Amino acid sequence: MKVIKNICCIGAGYVGGPTMTMIAAKCPHIEVNVVDINSERIAAWNDINVDNIPIYEPGLSELVAETRGRNLFFSTDVDKAIQAADMIFISVNTPTKTYGVGKGMAADLKYIELCARQIAAVATTDKIIVEKSTLPVRTAEALKRILDNTGNGVNYEILSNPEFLAEGTAVSDLLNPDRVLIGGEETESGRLAQQALVDVYANWVPKDRILTTNVWSSELSKLTANAFLAQRVSSINAISELCEVTEADVDEVARAIGADSRIGSKFLKASVGFGGSCFQKDILNLVYIAQSYGLHEVADYWEQVIIMNDHQKRRFAKKIVETLFNTVSGKKIVILGWAFKKDTNDTRESAAIYVVDYLLSEQAEIIIYDPKVSAERIFSDLEYLNTRTNKENRELVTVVENPMLAFADSHAAVVLTEWDEFKSYDWKQIYAAMLKPAFLFDGRMLLNHNQLVDIGFQTFTIGKGQ
Ligand code: NAD
Ligand code: UGA
Repeated sequence: MKVIKNICCIGAGYVGGPTMTMIAAKCPHIEVNVVDINSERIAAWNDINVDNIPIYEPGLSELVAETRGRNLFFSTDVDKAIQAADMIFISVNTPTKTYGVGKGMAADLKYIELCARQIAAVATTDKIIVEKSTLPVRTAEALKRILDNTGNGVNYEILSNPEFLAEGTAVSDLLNPDRVLIGGEETESGRLAQQALVDVYANWVPKDRILTTNVWSSELSKLTANAFLAQRVSSINAISELCEVTEADVDEVARAIGADSRIGSKFLKASVGFGGSCFQKDILNLVYIAQSYGLHEVADYWEQVIIMNDHQKRRFAKKIVETLFNTVSGKKIVILGWAFKKDTNDTRESAAIYVVDYLLSEQAEIIIYDPKVSAERIFSDLEYLNTRTNKENRELVTVVENPMLAFADSHAAVVLTEWDEFKSYDWKQIYAAMLKPAFLFDGRMLLNHNQLVDIGFQTFTIGKGQ
């Protein structure tokens, strides 16, 4: 039986940081070294003030304060951590490829391959390699070929252990996961490696929630789980458009169908469209994999989830322009929320980026407030789209720290992230500051629209007849 005493995690991002903090908290007998090539990120993880760690997640800074310097360490010394480890988690980014074959669809595996090559170059003792990043099915095969061809006698076992945490609830998801999935090779040494990782999680996760499968099922289950979750959002969003023209109410429909235990009530919240670093990337990757096996019907089926999501973002933006008398040119519009969901500072693929880009193309004057996202991040998200120059973006967009100062002489307020604080704003005061008619577009069905209408607002929300 292999007992793990030293873990290295390559990649100190939204997954590596929180997952390793939880392992360190629950396994004080294991030394956990989280390493990254991004020295700024590592410096932030090591900041004396734990409130400055690079990732905002409720409860995370407290856990870091408890474990950092005890058995949790953050460093840029990747080689040293690899050498010392019995088990190495690879938790680096796997974005959609932006070049070459599979551009815009396939996952870019260059960071994964670099990790494998670095491990192969540096390791002098046997290692268990854990795929924590989300990877295309059969990636372990490529990793194995890189690792097994060094000729230095070091043995590797490769496990797939995809992460299912959601941002904003990472700590509670890690503390109490629905399941932990560990895929391993069906050999004696593969089973021993799998058991070693089961034993790590068994320090806090009930054994019946630790599922073991073969490597390929585990790799494919991660893409499939995200595809199913995103598909539910696109399904209810498709129905939201139908609700708007039939006077059905999408919340009532969701409640009615969710009460069927075969359907279930979660992930049926209609919205301006799903965002986040993974849903789109993972579905595109699934579509690409299906295409590459010649399974065109399978590919087309899943691609529709993305098509629907793009439609939802665009039609919401279009609705704003149409409602504001078909022109927003020169009109001041206040955007509430930039993160892709509440309780995170992550903005990757946030619907807000696309809605605002659409409005900017119509020459609107945009004021943005988000409680956790910096101005620098917002401008770099817009710049990344390359729709217009950064100078033009900066001329049209203002980011504010006090939302109450934003509303003066504005034509519309638009809610794009479901931050709780928006509900407690003094909407009467906001209404008084705005030009009339004062419009409110709620992309999250967050606010109390009866109250807003009583105040005098003209409101639009997803999935309800107006
Ligand atoms: P991230 O971009 O936040 O973090 C990845 C980190 O890896 C970066 O800090 C980067 O500098 C580092 N890195 C890249 N190459 C490196 C190398 N060769 N050596 C050392 N460090 C390197 O990404 P993330 O959100 O943590 O996602 C990581 C993986 O986990 C992805 O595959 C993603 O699909 C998956 N995942 C993400 C989430 C989520 O909620 N974000 C949830 C489940 C799974
Ligand atoms: C998602 C999955 O929920 C995680 O299990 C998975 O580990 C992760 O992707 C990943 O692989 O990265 P995450 O993207 O962090 O997690 O957040 P979600 O809560 O899934 O929300 C994703 C997007 O869908 C958000 O923009 C959210 O607002 C939207 N959403 C979600 C809806 O519009 N309606 C819903 O009912 C649920």
